Amino acid sequence: MSDLRLAKAGTIEIAPSILDADFARLADELAVIESAGVSMVHLDVMDGHFVPNITIGPPVLAKLRDCSRLVFDAHLMISEPAKYAKAFVEAGADHITFHIEAAQKSERLIDRLHALGVTAGVCLNPQTPAEAVENIAPLCDMVLVMTVHPGFGGQKFMPEAAKKIARIREIVGPDIRIEVDGGIDPQTTPIVVSYGADTLVVGNAIFSKPDRVAAIKAIRQAAK
Ligand code: DX5
Ligand code: ZN
Repeated sequence: MSDLRLAKAGTIEIAPSILDADFARLADELAVIESAGVSMVHLDVMDGHFVPNITIGPPVLAKLRDCSRLVFDAHLMISEPAKYAKAFVEAGADHITFHIEAAQKSERLIDRLHALGVTAGVCLNPQTPAEAVENIAPLCDMVLVMTVHPGFGGQKFMPEAAKKIARIREIVGPDIRIEVDGGIDPQTTPIVVSYGADTLVVGNAIFSKPDRVAAIKAIRQAAK
């Protein structure tokens, strides 16, 4: 377990998603985004079951942990998140998000994540209504709203799904972070920030650009 924590709610944080990074040079990619002043990195975990794609697991996180002081924001797009939560904590995740659509006993899982010493997040797919997390969102440290169907980077932002952010903000108040994931770029950033998102997952709009630092700056500027 690491001693890193999510920033307190109220500030805008950019969480680069490494899904579109150069997987043969992940340590360098983390160093570059850290040099751009971000404090966290979004790690997309896919199991080929909950979503139709497979990415990384605990062994990769553990190796990255050895070479980075960024807050590890693990987005578990997996079936049975409760079964794997401990392995991701032991590998060095600082914050763990599970999908409401995949979890059996969400409240128990949130308690368990807290007991393991990490912060907890719940995520909603574009089609899942805000009401599905009404009772458990206030128990989380961050709620993740998907604005694309999970599984792949580089998809088109879904404006209707983003509107849910405003409802979630009403539910959780100002002290819990709201993260948004999917199609976030300098054009869509002002929209989601106006709805109340404060944590911006950005994959393609950073890692498809040769200059990652300039791309992060452009998002930061758009969030103002
Ligand atoms: C999608 C992932 C996202 C994705 C974001 O399933 O959860 O984190 O990588 O990438 P962009 O910013 O390209 O939509
Ligand atoms: Zn993600």
